[in-house]
Amino acid sequence: MNILLIGSGGREHALAWKLAQSPHCDTLFATPGNPGIAEEAELVELNILDHVAVITFCAGYDIGLVVIGPEAPLVDGLADSLRDAGIPVFGPNRKAAQLEGSKGFTKDMCAAANIPTAGYRRHDSKISALAGLAEFQPPFVIKADGLAAGKGVIIAETSQDAQAAIEDMFGGGFGDAGASVVLEEFMTGEEASFFALTDGKDVVAFGSAQDHKRVGDGDTGPNTGGMGAYSPAAVLTDAMQADVMERIIKPTVAYMSAQDMPYSGVLFAGLMLTHEGPKLIEYNARFGDPECQVLMLRYSGDLAALMLAVANGQLAGAPAPAFLPEAALTVVMAADGYPGTPEKGGAIVLKDGIKAKIFHAGTAEKDGQLIANGGRVLNVTATGATVTEAQLNAYTAVDAIDFPTGFCRRDIGWREVEREAEA
Ligand code: AMP
Ligand code: GLY
Repeated sequence: MNILLIGSGGREHALAWKLAQSPHCDTLFATPGNPGIAEEAELVELNILDHVAVITFCAGYDIGLVVIGPEAPLVDGLADSLRDAGIPVFGPNRKAAQLEGSKGFTKDMCAAANIPTAGYRRHDSKISALAGLAEFQPPFVIKADGLAAGKGVIIAETSQDAQAAIEDMFGGGFGDAGASVVLEEFMTGEEASFFALTDGKDVVAFGSAQDHKRVGDGDTGPNTGGMGAYSPAAVLTDAMQADVMERIIKPTVAYMSAQDMPYSGVLFAGLMLTHEGPKLIEYNARFGDPECQVLMLRYSGDLAALMLAVANGQLAGAPAPAFLPEAALTVVMAADGYPGTPEKGGAIVLKDGIKAKIFHAGTAEKDGQLIANGGRVLNVTATGATVTEAQLNAYTAVDAIDFPTGFCRRDIGWREVEREAEA
C-alpha cells in the first residue's frame, strides 16, 4: 500500500522511519516533510488546508492510508474529509479532536464520565472569570480553551498574576484560543505521558514516556514544545497503567462513541501522578513530539499495519503492540534563541559513525549543506539497557554533532537516572 504522511517535524521523521520499515508500505509520501524525512519518503507539495487537493492526490497515487502527524489539520477536519472520500486515515475527526482542541470540552467529558482530573470551572467572559478566581486557591491554573501552540496554560502564584493572565486571554493575547477559559485546581505530583491507540471501539496501550518542557537544565526557564523525552516512564507502574486504562482511557473512548463522535487514532494522555492516583491533565489527539521519537525506537511491530487497523476499525484483530524492553531517550538540539526567535541558517555537520538515530525536526538543505531551519532542530535518539545507558549513548552522539549555533539540555532523563542510581 502507498502511504501519505502529513507533517514536517521530528515526530513525523520518526513515524516515516518506522512506516518505511513496514512490509506493507510500498511508496511512502510525505508533505511537506524535511530533509530527514526525505531519506525515508518521497516529498510532495500539497496545501493541506485544501482538502480536495489532498483527496485528489490520494486518488491519483493510490494512497491506502493517510497518517496525520500534527494537531492543526485534525482540528481543521482533514480526517473527516478523507474519511468521507473513503480514504483510510490515522487520526481523529474534527469533533473527536476537540479532546485536544478544547480544554473545556475535555473537562466537561471528565465530569460526565467520572474521569479523575482537577476540579474546574469554564468561563466565557472576563468578568465571570475574574469573579470565578475566588473559588480557587493559589497557585491558580488558567487555561485558554483552544489550541495555543502549547502556550495556553498559565500557572499564577498570586491573584494579581492570575487576573493579568485572564485580562490577557480575553484581550486577545492568545487569539481565538482565549475567547473562553478554564480555571483549574492546582494538582501536585510527578507528570508522565501515556499513549493508547483506539479505533473508537477497542483500545490498546501504546507505551509511556516523560518529557522535559522547560528550556533549561534542572527544569528551569520558559516552556518549550519539549527539550527531550524518554520511554518507558517507570514511575508509571504497570498497576498505574492498568488503572489509567480503566479509569481514564476506556471511559473516554466510550464517552466519545456514545456522543456520536467516535475517537480514532492515538490518545496521548498527560497525567499527574497525585497521591490519590493518576489524574488527567490534558489530552492530545496526536503523538507527542518528542515522545513519539522514543516510542518509535522501542516499538517493534509493523506500524503501517497497526495504523491501518486503527483507521479501518479493525484494532480487535491486530496483534498487540510489542515494545523492546530497552529504554530510549531523545535529546533535542535546538537553535540558539529558542523558545524565542531561533537563529536560522546555522550549519550542521553530522559525522559518519554516530551511534544514535538522528531525527530531523527543523532542518533544511542549502547548497548541499544541512542547516538549522526552526526552533527544535535535531532529535538525537538512542537506546540502552537502562535510561542511564540510553542517556549516555544519546549524549555521546550529541557531542559528535557539529552544530555551533545550537544548544541542548544536558540532563534529559534526570528523574529516572536518579531513580536508577538509588535502586
Ligand atoms: P497542558 O498544556 O494542559 O498540558 O498544561 C501544561 C503544563 O501545565 C502541564 O504539563 C503541567 O505542568 C501544568 N498544569 C496544567 N494543568 C495543571 C493543573 N491542574 N495542576 C498543576 N499543573 C498543571
Ligand atoms: N511534547 C509535548 C507535546 O507534544 O505536546
